[in-house]
Amino acid sequence: MTSFRIRPAAGADARFLGDMLVEASNWSVARARPRVAVLEDPKVLRYIAGWKRPGDFGSVAEDAHGVPIGACWGRLFPANEPGYGFVAVGVPELTLGVNPQWRAQGVGRALLQAVAVQAGAAGHARLSLSVERANFAQRLYVSEGFVTVESGEDSDTMVRTVH
Ligand SMILES: CC(C)(COP(=O)(O)OP(=O)(O)OC[C@H]1O[C@@H](n2cnc3c(N)ncnc32)[C@H](O)[C@@H]1OP(=O)(O)O)[C@@H](O)C(=O)NCCC(=O)NCCS
Repeated sequence: MTSFRIRPAAGADARFLGDMLVEASNWSVARARPRVAVLEDPKVLRYIAGWKRPGDFGSVAEDAHGVPIGACWGRLFPANEPGYGFVAVGVPELTLGVNPQWRAQGVGRALLQAVAVQAGAAGHARLSLSVERANFAQRLYVSEGFVTVESGEDSDTMVRTVH
């Protein structure tokens, strides 16, 4: 049994969250770009730029040695500069990524659940995200209570309520 723990994400986690943002952006190996190219893309960079801003919240998973292995975080976007999964002002949009060698071991689900608790504690009623339909992660989101509210050509915007 592999063990990991979840802790709140801090400002000092910016570099690692950047790594996980690259993983999320590069979910399809066929379309993966180098780290620098991903993080130069303003539409991607906006999910992490200036971390940790007021309103940002998230969780980091660490292995037994305290090495970060995955992260999930929420950020608010303005209506005039919406994220891919924007649904409304005040609804944080999530980003999720797990190191490849740690996938399929429950880390992603544990992070999603931890972030939902953080969102509730911060007074949010909903969380949103955008996922490409070909990404199996969509099934994980459905099983964690996310519902598709808008469909694009290849991707869906999903929302869950926070209790
Ligand atoms: C998506 C991602 C975050 C999921 O994290 P994870 O730690 O691998 O997920 P979990 O181990 O918690 O698994 C969640 C469910 O997905 C299933 N799953 C895991 N890997 C899978 C795979 N490669 N194919 C199909 N299903 C898979 C698991 O079986 C599990 O379901 P179960 O609990 O019913 O068994 C992770 O795979 C990842 O970082 N992928 C690349 C980045 C990405 O796609 N981010 C999301 C962008 S929207």
